[in-house]
Amino acid sequence: MASDLSAAPDPLTVGRYTAASVLVSAADLQARVQALGEEITADYAGREPLLVGVLKGAFMFMSDLARAIDLSVEFDFMAVSSYGHSTRSSGVVRIVKDLDLDLADRDVILVEDIIDSGLTLNYLRRNLLARNPASLEVCALLVRENHKVDESILRYEGYRVPSDFLVGYGLDVDEKFRNLPDIRVVEVAVEEDSAA
Ligand code: IMP
Ligand code: MG
Repeated sequence: MASDLSAAPDPLTVGRYTAASVLVSAADLQARVQALGEEITADYAGREPLLVGVLKGAFMFMSDLARAIDLSVEFDFMAVSSYGHSTRSSGVVRIVKDLDLDLADRDVILVEDIIDSGLTLNYLRRNLLARNPASLEVCALLVRENHKVDESILRYEGYRVPSDFLVGYGLDVDEKFRNLPDIRVVEVAVEEDSAA
C-alpha cells in the first residue's frame, strides 16, 4: 500500500500554528550553551553543582548545558504549572513534581527555558531558598527584554528576547515544536470562519 505523504505531520506547521522565522539558529544555540557551560565550569571549580531543571521546557537546554560543564554535576527536576491562562503566567505556581534530592548545603543552579514576566522564577527561588542550599544561582536560556525580576538574580543567561511567543529547543505551544533544534517565532493562523 502506498503511503500518503500528504498526511504526514509537518514539523513546522501544526494545526493553526506555524513555527516561522528563526530567532536563534541551532548553531548559535550550541555555541552559546557551550560558553555558558564553560563559565559555570570556571565559577564552580572544586565544587559539585546540582542542576535543577524546570520541566518540561528546560529539558533540552539542560541536557546540552550539562554536557558543556566539565565538572561532576548532579541532576534533579521539578515540574510546575501556573494557574490561569496557558500562555500567561499568573505567578501562582503549583508544584506538580517536586525534587527528589535534598538541597541542604548544595550549590544549586536553577535551569530555566525562559524568564517571561519572571513570576514563576520568583516563586521558585523563594521555594528553593527555603530548603537551605549553600548557594542558588539561576541559568536561563532566554530572558524577555521586559521581564520584571531583579537583574541581580539572573546569573547566567543565553539571550535577551522580544515579546514574541517562541518555540523550539524545549519550548512549546500546546506541546508542539519542543524538538526543533532552533528557536522560532510562532505565527497563529486566523480561523477562516471567524468574524472580521
Ligand atoms: P513567567 O512566570 O511569566 O516568567 O513564565 C515563564 C514560563 O512561561 C516559562 O517557563 C515557559 O514555560 C512559559 N513561557 C513564557 N513565554 C514563552 C514562550 O514564548 N514560549 C513558550 N513558553 C513560554
Ligand atoms: Mg517553563
